Amino acid sequence: HAQDAAAGAKTFVVCRACHQIGPGAKNMVGPELNGVVGRKAGSVPGFSYSEANKTSGITWDEATLTKYLANPQKVVPGTKMIFAGIHDPAKVQDVIAFLKQYNAD
Ligand code: HEM
Repeated sequence: HAQDAAAGAKTFVVCRACHQIGPGAKNMVGPELNGVVGRKAGSVPGFSYSEANKTSGITWDEATLTKYLANPQKVVPGTKMIFAGIHDPAKVQDVIAFLKQYNAD
């Protein structure tokens, strides 16, 4: 299964309960996600992160996002992202493809 950004856009609907992405995206329950692929965890200005996220030392690349989006609490114990995770590995890859569309490069 190759990454499919269009399919990822559909899966991202569940993320939109807490996150904005795209032009004019603002922090809400969760931080805005423009440019998140390659970003250091806890680095969006003005968003109040958990200590767990801020001190995780993670950079959100494809490998770390693959683990995190499947089970946020396992990768960042104590995170305030209260989300069970995406349990279909193909859907995780599709969401990452969707997120990558909002990177500057
Ligand atoms: C953090 C992605 C669903 C609330 C994050 C981060 C990513 C992410 C990559 C880390 C951002 C950073 O360190 O700057 C996603 C994706 C989702 C999703 C792709 C859907 C598959 C949700 C949902 C909620 C939520 C449904 C609310 C119920 C949060 C919060 C944080 C966060 C509060 C900050 C975590 C902390 O400071 O511990 N999300 N998220 N997310 N997300 Fe999500």
